[in-house]
Amino acid sequence: MKHYIDFHEDVSFEDLDKMLDIAVDLKAKTKAGIPHPILAGKTLAMIFTKSSTRTRVSFEVGMYQLGGMALFLSNNDIQIGRGETIYDTAHVLSGMVDGIMIRTFKHSDVEDLAKYGSIPVINGLTDDQHPTQALADLLTIKEHKGGLKGLKFAYLGDGNNMANSLLQACAKAGMDVAIASPADYTCPDKYVNQAKKDAEVTGSKILMTTDPFEAADGADVIYTDTWTSMGQEAEKAKRVEIFKDYQVNSKIMGVAHKDAIFMHCLPAYRGYEVTEDVIDGPQSVVFDEAENRLHAHKAILVNCMG
Ligand code: CP
Ligand code: NVA
Repeated sequence: MKHYIDFHEDVSFEDLDKMLDIAVDLKAKTKAGIPHPILAGKTLAMIFTKSSTRTRVSFEVGMYQLGGMALFLSNNDIQIGRGETIYDTAHVLSGMVDGIMIRTFKHSDVEDLAKYGSIPVINGLTDDQHPTQALADLLTIKEHKGGLKGLKFAYLGDGNNMANSLLQACAKAGMDVAIASPADYTCPDKYVNQAKKDAEVTGSKILMTTDPFEAADGADVIYTDTWTSMGQEAEKAKRVEIFKDYQVNSKIMGVAHKDAIFMHCLPAYRGYEVTEDVIDGPQSVVFDEAENRLHAHKAILVNCMG
């Protein structure tokens, strides 16, 4: 059975190529209006204990376009919100649906769902990782740059769930990865070591630094994410102070490659992690990136549930 929980563990080099190929094919079919009911009759339960616009819409629309259906289960409505265990939920859902997508706080809850259930589990974001976004981001970079291997990818800001998954994914794709974060907010060693291992195989370089200009220097992709992730709202004022030197603005874009693209998983907070002129400017590909959630997620669904 194929889960999609952790990019490093669940996506082999071969899987990555295969899923990107499926995403490209299904995107073309979607644009041409060619039906592709690969998951006809299949159902996906989508559990959300955190908010979502893109992840919810893309998985729900994606299942519909694949001929199946998706159920939106918010923790305000299902019994998880009243304390029903992951163990019981995993068993119950395994008897009724063909797959589960879950967005929640604790990464171990997603792992437990997979451990106790008997159907594929897809990680729609945890405090530690955001692997579905990472695949859509690779698809977007490939489309805009014509390939992945050998490009320099720079991420500036919080070493959060997004940074961890991008580090895993970009290293697996053979890109040079540079991450600039304040010393106490860098990605955990576990992810850095995984990326370094993959980089040894592909011949790429991994740079972890506190200097945003060193990371951005000559980069083909400049990426940032919110400084205050879901669940950290109480720390917002403190975080704005800590991350202010990591803002992506015209000075940062000026040291990147002249054809560099700007990416952000969204939602974005203009004037904080990115200035308006950059995110709404000619180098920004954020809306292509958001659309590619649909196409990449369909590839994940086909790979896990097909
Ligand atoms: N990027 C992303 O996951 O967006 P949502 O929170 O809207 O799903
Ligand atoms: N790091 C952000 C990503 C949102 C898609 C968060 O966890 O809130």
